[in-house]
Amino acid sequence: MQRGRWIQASLGVTIAALFSLPAQAGELDILKPRVPADQIAAAKAMKPPFPVTADIIAKGKEVFNGAGTCYTCHGATGKGDGPGAAGMDPAPRNFTNHKFDQVRTAGEMVWVVTNGSPLQPAMVGFVSAGQITDKQAWEAVMYERSLGCGGDMDCVNGSADWVAKQPVHEESAKTASPVAATLAGGPSPLDLSLH
Ligand code: HEC
Repeated sequence: MQRGRWIQASLGVTIAALFSLPAQAGELDILKPRVPADQIAAAKAMKPPFPVTADIIAKGKEVFNGAGTCYTCHGATGKGDGPGAAGMDPAPRNFTNHKFDQVRTAGEMVWVVTNGSPLQPAMVGFVSAGQITDKQAWEAVMYERSLGCGGDMDCVNGSADWVAKQPVHEESAKTASPVAATLAGGPSPLDLSLH
């Protein structure tokens, strides 16, 4: 075989091998609310138990990397790629995605950290399990939101009012009416079952 052809052939094999690697399981739709319909209005209305400052975000980072062990799945930089995330389906949330902050209120996130995700038993209720306090859950969520919000403190606070004002995204256009209803705080018409 000519040298050029050999390189071409082995490159082909390498590329084929790369594509046959098991695909990393993805995150589950950000537009699917995690809080059950009968509790979502209350969850959205929850507010941080403190004024959110850079100091709170720093405390949240400590919880994320310490007592909460959140980094093991959500990754040291919050991209959802921690060592514990391998093979997890649905995958841990990527907190650097600004769109996630635009569709999810901080209260809904705290609800999940308190009670766990109904869609992924690996995301346990860290507060109800007694691993962290309610205050620490808020701190960790403020830190997580800062990863996708940057210095925009309204985005970090993630109130229902702020979320409702965010532009509707490309993906949400496909499911425009249920999302609009959900963002408006109405009962969620999206079903919570895994597909
Ligand atoms: C054992 C792995 C694991 C650990 C540890 C973990 N998470 Fe998660 N987390 C997940 C997975 C998987 C999801 C995706 C669940 C889903 O799609 O509903 C998730 C989702 C979330 C969400 C997003 C829920 C939503 O509304 O979509 C929040 C907020 C969250 N985690 C916060 C935390 C915090 C805070 C900690 C630490 C106190 C933590 N997680 C620790 C696996 C983990």
